[in-house]
Amino acid sequence: MHSSALQPAVQSAVQPVGQPVGQPVGQPAAGSAAESEGGTPALRTHQLAKTYALGFFRKKVRAIRDVSLRVERGEIFGLLGPNGAGKTTTLKVLMGLVRPTSGEAEVLGRPVGDLVAKGRLGYLPESPYFYDYLTGRELLVFVAELFGLPRRESRRRADALLEQVGLQRAAQLALRRYSKGMLQRVGLAQALINDPELVVLDEPLSGLDPIGRKQIRELIAQLGARGKTVVFSSHILSDVELLAQRAAILVGGRTVDSGALDHLVQARILSTEVLIDRPAPVLLQALAGGAYAAEAVGETVRVVVPEGEDVGRLVDLVRRHGGALLALTPRRESLEDVVVRRATDDNGAGAAAPLPARDAQPMGA
Ligand SMILES: Nc1ncnc2c1ncn2[C@@H]1O[C@H](COP(=O)(O)OP(=O)(O)OP(=O)(O)O)[C@@H](O)[C@H]1O
Ligand SMILES: [Mg+2]
Repeated sequence: MHSSALQPAVQSAVQPVGQPVGQPVGQPAAGSAAESEGGTPALRTHQLAKTYALGFFRKKVRAIRDVSLRVERGEIFGLLGPNGAGKTTTLKVLMGLVRPTSGEAEVLGRPVGDLVAKGRLGYLPESPYFYDYLTGRELLVFVAELFGLPRRESRRRADALLEQVGLQRAAQLALRRYSKGMLQRVGLAQALINDPELVVLDEPLSGLDPIGRKQIRELIAQLGARGKTVVFSSHILSDVELLAQRAAILVGGRTVDSGALDHLVQARILSTEVLIDRPAPVLLQALAGGAYAAEAVGETVRVVVPEGEDVGRLVDLVRRHGGALLALTPRRESLEDVVVRRATDDNGAGAAAPLPARDAQPMGA
């Protein structure tokens, strides 16, 4: 939730959320802020670390140990990692909710916790919880008024956002009657009520049904198209692949990789799948004697040629025996492969073992 102490900064940054909302109240934030702040990144951390001390014996838990990130203005940035990798902790430090033990963190060119920066932020916490005797609309009007918006404008934005997140029919329903997915949606709406230039979303797509996922993905893409900076965490790697221009991978409280998606997901071909149409017995025999695993799928035969092997040799073999190729499909490394590989590499190096000995748990999703 945001503080009313932020009002002056917020008023200069606000503008309507989405297209159908009417006249702007203020000026678009994208671009202009970057110029006035000398092109500083939207977010930056350097060797960020947070250690919690738990219980009577102050047992140490290193939630994050070395997170270095740089998010440029106007980009959609994904924060990926297995359960317990430190995504939420990193975002909480950036939101000024948790004080880091060491390292540096800056938001919109200012130190974390800075009130001016906070006024230009929107934040969706993980599993958001709100005062649940309010209706969805009352919550949004309340948050808008905390930002100093007049009642009329607050209502207008609340209604526009309720529509954008697909909650118009639940606008008058008390939040305690909302499902998990509906709370997620209203959480996203409250994060956008001040038309922030930087939107930080902790697992924005969790708890949503397929239609909800699509709607929220589109909303995030729209924010990006309007020049906003969006940082979101997710386990769902395909969402990051679909939405983000760049991403970072956290494992065991460390950034193990970050960069453009095509850098993270190299064009490396892991294997090639060859489908052969109704092979004659002589070809089946030749395949059985070959080096590759072949399996029957209905009337076709599927052969997987591993990385580094010459697919041409198999193609020649099929042709020599009068066979017909149905498909030849290279399987490239996906972001999922990269995260699993990095999580496994890190486990192999002994850096990410389950708590309490270490920070991270093996990839669960
Ligand atoms: N308040 C806290 N006190 C003690 N330990 C904590 C606290 N918050 C997080 N941790 C620990 O820090 C590590 C990182 O947790 P964090 O919630 O940041 O991970 P995450 O990447 O967001 O995981 P998930 O994908 O499950 O949401 C975990 O081992 C967790 O148990
Ligand atoms: Mg989390």
